[in-house]
Amino acid sequence: MEKRKKIGILTSGGDCSGLNAVISAVVNAASRKGWTVYGIHNGTDGLTEELSYEELTIRNFSDTPWPRLSGSYLGSLNKGIKMESLEEVSKRFAKGVKKLGLDALIVVGGDGSMNIVSNFCRGTDIKMVGIPKTIDNDTPVTEFSVGFDTAVSVCTEAIDSLELTARSHHRALILEVMGRDAGHLAMHSALAGQADVCLVPEIPYKIDNIIKKLKEIKASGRSHAVIVVSEGIRTENGSHLSGAKNLVGEKVYGGIGHYLSEEINSRYKDFQTRVTTLGHIQRSGTPSSFDRAMAAIFGAKAVELLAEGQHNQMIVWKDGRAQAVPLDEVVKEGTTLLNPHGDYVKAAIATGMYVGEVK
Ligand code: F6P
Repeated sequence: MEKRKKIGILTSGGDCSGLNAVISAVVNAASRKGWTVYGIHNGTDGLTEELSYEELTIRNFSDTPWPRLSGSYLGSLNKGIKMESLEEVSKRFAKGVKKLGLDALIVVGGDGSMNIVSNFCRGTDIKMVGIPKTIDNDTPVTEFSVGFDTAVSVCTEAIDSLELTARSHHRALILEVMGRDAGHLAMHSALAGQADVCLVPEIPYKIDNIIKKLKEIKASGRSHAVIVVSEGIRTENGSHLSGAKNLVGEKVYGGIGHYLSEEINSRYKDFQTRVTTLGHIQRSGTPSSFDRAMAAIFGAKAVELLAEGQHNQMIVWKDGRAQAVPLDEVVKEGTTLLNPHGDYVKAAIATGMYVGEVK
């Protein structure tokens, strides 16, 4: 008879919409195989610090609205890890997994979490399967990560709202969105919301050409505009704004919208600018049907993989289906950036948006 498996699941990195739908799918699929599922609290902290977990059952999710809500039922953390403490934290991690008697661990995370946790597991017998999630959509290999679609909708709604007030006040309104070093969120939502300008980290830009676009708009008889800017863009001369750092010294983005606003206003006075920084609202919209369906597919596939005895893989969506790819391949790829020559940018340019200086 097959041994009754005991698996763990944790959510790691910045939260996003759809995490609870993933947890629910894993619990449903695994419980139906007779397995026990432990939910690990607060990302890897639940294993590396004070052991913190709970047994999850189908009723946790069927008797509550959790699968329909954003946030993470289990909690998450986005603090990175200092490489010099990797060995020590890895040891604590392995000890935690052993203490709970886990046969396998499902990690719901982005590129950073996949890197960190696969490092923890390297050289141990811990069986890990990854599920990609992030509003940045920059997890390698997969075309979609859970949470991205909802975040695009949140940003698009914001563009729609800004367009209306910009119209009333004859302003150029700037929307700063998240995404770190990848412009997917900015470009997808700018295209959906028909923004006039969209600046992403992958494409350099010229303030004078933003102003040229604004002048064209004015000459066409329209006196308002919406500019979408990704938090990770640099200043015109290619430097990053100095700013806050997180606990492991990585830059915390934010503020570039105000830089742009000042630069535009100092050179062009016909449109007043104002800045909206959307912030963490982007991580917290009601999970879209696409994200929920993706969550169910990824969760079910992760359990199927473990049932087949496979591990050290991440589930990806590629070529219209869920597939498993080796974690090492994912980690090696780094981060998936927006393709400056891809269909999103091409369509943006073709429909009249200024997206920077595409070479
Ligand atoms: O990676 C997801 C993300 O939301 C980024 O888009 C953003 O830069 C970052 O997390 C913000 O992190 P924190 O919530 O730790 O400030």
